[in-house]
Amino acid sequence: MTARFITVEGVDGAGKSTQLAWLAGWLSRSGIDFVQTREPGGTPLGEALRTLLLNEAMSLDTEAMLMWAARREHVENVVRPALAAGRWVLCDRYSDATYAYQGGGRGMPVARIAELERWALVDAPTPDLTLLFDVPLAVAQARMSATRELDRFERETADFHTRVRDAYLARAKAEPARIRVIDASVTPAEIQSALERMLPEWLA
Ligand code: TYD
Repeated sequence: MTARFITVEGVDGAGKSTQLAWLAGWLSRSGIDFVQTREPGGTPLGEALRTLLLNEAMSLDTEAMLMWAARREHVENVVRPALAAGRWVLCDRYSDATYAYQGGGRGMPVARIAELERWALVDAPTPDLTLLFDVPLAVAQARMSATRELDRFERETADFHTRVRDAYLARAKAEPARIRVIDASVTPAEIQSALERMLPEWLA
């Protein structure tokens, strides 16, 4: 079976981490050799950029360029080599997040993001499957405040998070074959049953 590239997306508080852990278990149980990684991050430099991105105030252009710089390092050093070696890649956020957060959330025009993408990612792999864990704002906010200290993005306004969600949903509508929207407002067990049904069908 050819190695596949799976990305996981959603607004802060969608419950992505729980589902990522479950997905990793599902891949292992299916006997699939995979690498689990995340963005921004996944390389030593990428993780250092993540610390800056999540904690330091910066201009929107700087934020967007650092996201793409971290992604370039990650694609070159982790994603592409893994796929080339026949290993699947399970990645917590990827390019869709930049369109949703820097685009939708912060209002950077899509054309400008696309220009940076063309510059930063030459021949980069496109995910074969993107799971978008979708929840209404109220659910996301209740889950977020129940967890640890919030980062720079999590502390953003309700309007910001609504725009992020809308931008994700618009991308899913434009690319329905790649981006599957999962209703994540239900219990983790219900989400997992939905995935148990969806994943084998997608693989076939
Ligand atoms: P997140 O993936 O939610 O990690 P955790 O579960 O540890 O909180 O945190 C990463 C944050 O970075 C998230 O708020 C979204 C933001 N982000 C962007 O704004 N643009 C991007 O391109 C990426 C990859 C992430």
